[in-house]
Amino acid sequence: MPTVRDVRAKAGEEPITMLTAYDAPTAAIVDEAGVDIILVGDSLGNTSMGYETTLPVTVDDMARHTGAVARATEDALIVADMPFLSIGVDESASLENAGRMLKEEDAHAVKLECGPHTVELTEKLVQLGIPVMAHLGLTPQHVNQYGGYPRQGTDREAAERILELAEAHEKAGAFSLVLEHVPSNLAAEVTDAIDIPTIGIGAGPDCDGQVLVVDDAVGLSEWTPSFSKQFGNVRAEMESAIDDYVSAVTSGAFPAEEHAHEEADLDDLY
Ligand code: KIV
Repeated sequence: MPTVRDVRAKAGEEPITMLTAYDAPTAAIVDEAGVDIILVGDSLGNTSMGYETTLPVTVDDMARHTGAVARATEDALIVADMPFLSIGVDESASLENAGRMLKEEDAHAVKLECGPHTVELTEKLVQLGIPVMAHLGLTPQHVNQYGGYPRQGTDREAAERILELAEAHEKAGAFSLVLEHVPSNLAAEVTDAIDIPTIGIGAGPDCDGQVLVVDDAVGLSEWTPSFSKQFGNVRAEMESAIDDYVSAVTSGAFPAEEHAHEEADLDDLY
């Protein structure tokens, strides 16, 4: 079984790879490709549930998708994202919601979108045996405060706040840190300042690892952020396959003889 220790040990060697997955077939492909960490991100709200933001995603949604990913994964470390308001409102609810991902759905760790309010919670979760991946920089659950998804940590004060929070979460016991949409020189400084691995998305090349939303990476998303890269064009493949299917059905070419069978006994039924 992969452990958070393996992830910590990897930092400083070759870069850590992390991708999101939300369902069993995608998780199996990602896992077989040797990706180190599968994040069941609350980006599931955008990629798979048709929401404009991640805010409507529930603990039940995350649990169901985490279970699907875990059933199809053999080697990767599975991290379940904690959705909006599932943590931070009430301590015991936060602990139970996070614990459910490990106890019922076989995740190995949880990810928290962090701020000053998650330092103590991180410490408590870790004490209880729930490994925590912290997430700083652009935290999409704050979309209503940001008024969109702007770069974070772009001035000295904001950059220092991110650095301080990174140190505080490391001290609280987080095993790794996602840095999203921050200047690469800030990400490099944070990576130097803390011992736990940093995993960047839109944070430049100097993090200990990289993460992308799988739909963006394979070219399934309709829109991708500027810091992402499409490594394939799954959308075009699907469009072409579905067009071919529609043509085959409407022209009568599908199903052909090899796709159907007859039972002799059933002739002359009427
Ligand atoms: O929800 C998500 O997919 C994430 C990653 C982009 C880090 O938080």
